[in-house]
Amino acid sequence: MSKQTFDRILQSQGFGSRKYCRDLISDGEVRINGEPFTDYSARLETDGLVFHLFDEDWIYREHVYIAINKPSDFECSRRPSHHPGILTLLPEQFTWRDVQPVGRLDHDTTGMLLLSDDGAFIHAQSSPKRHIKKVYVATTHEAVTDELVATLLAGVQLNDEPAPLAAQTCRKLAEHELEIVLEQGKYHQVKRMLAAAGNHCSALRRVAVGGLTLEALDLELGEWCFLEAEQLDLLVPDK
Ligand code: URA
Repeated sequence: MSKQTFDRILQSQGFGSRKYCRDLISDGEVRINGEPFTDYSARLETDGLVFHLFDEDWIYREHVYIAINKPSDFECSRRPSHHPGILTLLPEQFTWRDVQPVGRLDHDTTGMLLLSDDGAFIHAQSSPKRHIKKVYVATTHEAVTDELVATLLAGVQLNDEPAPLAAQTCRKLAEHELEIVLEQGKYHQVKRMLAAAGNHCSALRRVAVGGLTLEALDLELGEWCFLEAEQLDLLVPDK
């Protein structure tokens, strides 16, 4: 349980500077239980607080954990150069809250991308020590052969890597489609592994992280959702 002044609460949720949040509150733009709540210095219990602003109900969240079904032609980098940044697909307050992607997907990769403003979560999810599996479906230029699957499972040597990298699991899904599961997240890893194994990745989709699947989230391309405790539990290895 923790109490904070209403202006600080609004600011912590990414709605702008303290001054701007005070103005929103004083102007009667923010409602609680259906009524304008205009006292910005009131100390409110944050646990379970729901307020209404800009036509939406917002639940107070100390941190946000988000999944988006990333479309192609969006960049995950903080300073996108050739395509819009992924944060442009999310409400503006997430940028104010310093929400960041957990790792990166290439601009042309689609599928599950996690984002958060919780540094410890981002760090833990990105750590190779945690062995969190990432499941990809790759469309291949050449047909998928038993030999390709065996090579990826045995490991391929990539430039700048000290040792060969192997898929944790790998299976043919269709003539030109392969499911590949990795525990690491090296730069362009799936594409480079496929190239090193003599094929070419022409499209890539991430369909799961840990035990959390894109199918279960049921998000259209470009759609996002908050992740709740039971979904976050699925991101822990061996679940
Ligand atoms: N591997 C790649 O090559 N690209 C991605 O976006 C993710 C994994």
